[in-house]
Amino acid sequence: MKRTKIIDAIKHYEAIGLGNTISVKGWVRTKRGNNAITFIALNDGSIVHNLQIVADPAKFDEELMKQITTGACLHVTGTLVESQGKGQAVEVVAQEIEVYGTADPETYPLQKKGHSMEFLREIGHLRPRTNYFGCVLRLRHAMAFAIHKYFNDRGFFYLHTPLITASDAEGAGEMFSVSTLDPNNLPKTPEGKVDYTKDFFGKHVSLTVSGQLEGELGALALGGIYTFGPTFRAENSNTPRHLAEFWMIEPEVAFNDITDNMDLAEDFIKYLVQYALDNNMDDLQFLNDMFDKELIERMKFVVSHDFVRLGYTEAIDILLKSGKKFDFPVKWGIDLQSEHERYLVENHFQKPVILTDYPKEIKAFYMKLNDDGKTVRAMDVLFPKIGEIIGGSEREENYDKLMQRVQELHIPEKDVWWYLETRKYGSAPHSGFGLGFERLLLFVTGMTNIRDVIPFPRTPQNAEF
Ligand code: 4AD
Ligand code: MG
Repeated sequence: MKRTKIIDAIKHYEAIGLGNTISVKGWVRTKRGNNAITFIALNDGSIVHNLQIVADPAKFDEELMKQITTGACLHVTGTLVESQGKGQAVEVVAQEIEVYGTADPETYPLQKKGHSMEFLREIGHLRPRTNYFGCVLRLRHAMAFAIHKYFNDRGFFYLHTPLITASDAEGAGEMFSVSTLDPNNLPKTPEGKVDYTKDFFGKHVSLTVSGQLEGELGALALGGIYTFGPTFRAENSNTPRHLAEFWMIEPEVAFNDITDNMDLAEDFIKYLVQYALDNNMDDLQFLNDMFDKELIERMKFVVSHDFVRLGYTEAIDILLKSGKKFDFPVKWGIDLQSEHERYLVENHFQKPVILTDYPKEIKAFYMKLNDDGKTVRAMDVLFPKIGEIIGGSEREENYDKLMQRVQELHIPEKDVWWYLETRKYGSAPHSGFGLGFERLLLFVTGMTNIRDVIPFPRTPQNAEF
């Protein structure tokens, strides 16, 4: 008999027909009951809810019934009936039970409920079987799908940018080297440096920190593109918002100025939040009830309010006038810290904020210089509880001005000559931004640590599973 997914048994039981026999497969969440009746809560990951299996212990082998413990994997054939108890519309009266895999209650780490997030991180190989992670992983999938749908529906093209690259797009120097050289026997140049001409690619390369520079090449040919892939940053910051391997979505659009860019960012993020509200309510409701009582309210608030748009200089004034004592003192020119961003979003405006026109010194070389010569057409989207969720800008399309920034920042021309050529041949105004996928997931799951919204987090000293 063909397997029925639990989501279908629960949501579409009318289509299946009450009284019909179905076959379901999944993992035992709980077993309870007495000598006369046993209730098994079965979950197969298709939905957060469990399917209740009702079994008469007298009809089954005693040894088999003993093997049915939390975590065991079962195949159950039985009749789909209206539930006698409350809490569920339907249940399955078991006719046959097969145990695919047992889970020794003495050692199974998820035997009990209510583990801390910290403990679950230590059992990253099993945590997808918890309700929390089921919700997070289904939402993660839904958001990835919605991202592709959003751009596809609007005529953007998905561009695959390389993961191995020689350019440090963000200029922060936080890259992981990629090499096949033997670290115990490195070839050296006459000056005593590592001779990367002997390496696999004939030069020193790293894992990418951003697909933007290559994305711009696509935008200046196809009009509008987006990238969506893993990015890598070797920043040694052990915070709840940083990963060494995270996923980023980077749209890049020819002929868009900074205002178009802000409009796109706001529309995009609202679309994604609304998509989750429309399609993932079971998971959101679970997370809202169990973890973050304001999750759904916060999501609805964001989709129904305009984001504040504000210049960096005005933001500094607000922070200075706030009377609040920050750990990191405020003055014009500083790179805003998370405490500053959160003050603006959570205390002052109580809304998402798009900050623009940052001092050029604290932003990347490719951002378009404003007429004041001091600030650039950058934009950061700041979100409640998260801080920066998007970073982007209008790009410098003037060859001479871009070249000047490259020289000021001592960026080796041999690494970016191809990027510079786009400003030499058919240059065009263009803009784009990067959305941190896990930061978005923090927002739509209510989780507070970024390690809990990616299946296999990579952070300093941690790459076990
Ligand atoms: O602000 P960032 O560094 O911008 C760029 O990389 C640009 N090239 C984007 C562009 O204009 N195409 O990073 C973009 C976003 C941040 O706003 C943040 O959400 C996320 O990526 N991000 C991280 N997420 C998790 N862990 C980290 N270590 C992150 N660093 C950045
Ligand atoms: Mg940034």
